[in-house]
Amino acid sequence: LPKEERFPPGLRKYQGFWQFQNAIPGVLAMKEDFKPRRDDVIVSSFPKSGTTWLKALTFTIMHRDKYTFSSHPLLKLNPHDCVPYIELHYALRDEQYLETLPSPRVLGMHVPYSLLSDSIKTSTCPIIHICRDPKDVIVSFWHMFKKFDGLMEPLSFKQTYELFCEGRVPTGPVCDHVLEYYTKSLSSPKKILILKYEEMLKDPTNGVVRIANFMGCPFSEEEIKSGLVEKIAEFCSFNELKNFDTKQSEGNIKSYYYRKGIAGDWQNYMTPEMANKLDEITKEKLCDSSFTF
Ligand code: A3P
Repeated sequence: LPKEERFPPGLRKYQGFWQFQNAIPGVLAMKEDFKPRRDDVIVSSFPKSGTTWLKALTFTIMHRDKYTFSSHPLLKLNPHDCVPYIELHYALRDEQYLETLPSPRVLGMHVPYSLLSDSIKTSTCPIIHICRDPKDVIVSFWHMFKKFDGLMEPLSFKQTYELFCEGRVPTGPVCDHVLEYYTKSLSSPKKILILKYEEMLKDPTNGVVRIANFMGCPFSEEEIKSGLVEKIAEFCSFNELKNFDTKQSEGNIKSYYYRKGIAGDWQNYMTPEMANKLDEITKEKLCDSSFTF
């Protein structure tokens, strides 16, 4: 391969999207074999867009009758251990694990819509997709890449930015990834819900209500009066999740998923020119759609 196709190491373009080479078999096996259950809920995202938060929210909302806040699994487990990635378990050839989970399951994925199987696309199980300003996604990516010590050469922010502008990050380009879900949500609004990280930050309780409604388990009058919606939003807030005494399972290392949890941190990393260039790339990609980040 020419050098530019070898960098970052192990990243390959597959059907329009960059993926780590060792992730592709998992995506293909998932497409071939994964059969959703009717009551599954699937959480979908481009990496570093608020997946961990959405997993925690969805899991807590789904199981609100099962667990109290004082003995909740999220106090001890990383949200990624409560809501596993489908394609990762296929890549690890451990997909049987997904079958051992009791219904209703909440499952996660970073897989582009066009690489999903018909069994997911035509099933009734809802997909909730969270997206985020690409400028903050890239900053979050860079901080996570820095933690992959030994797995890849450290990249400067500028290098990461340039790769990102070319779409050359796992499951990128970001706009194509989000646009596929957004476009589908227009024709199938009951199947796909698009949430924006920034809107969720501004009004998390509204986010909690929207997620519950979309999942088909809206809050009752009594639950609303009891303040449960606000309690869930608070329980899954950045400061709470970050400080739960969760054990670190291999790969689900706390510091990968909790850093600052704010919108607009890109201003501390990008020159105005860099931000403008990325905004222009984004605008150009989105020009035929009604979507904005
Ligand atoms: P930053 O690196 O900008 O802080 P993902 O879960 O998709 O990997 O995304 C990680 C990003 O979401 C990180 O962003 C992380 O801090 C932020 N995040 C994690 N939990 C959050 C929460 N409860 N509320 C808001 N942001 C959260």
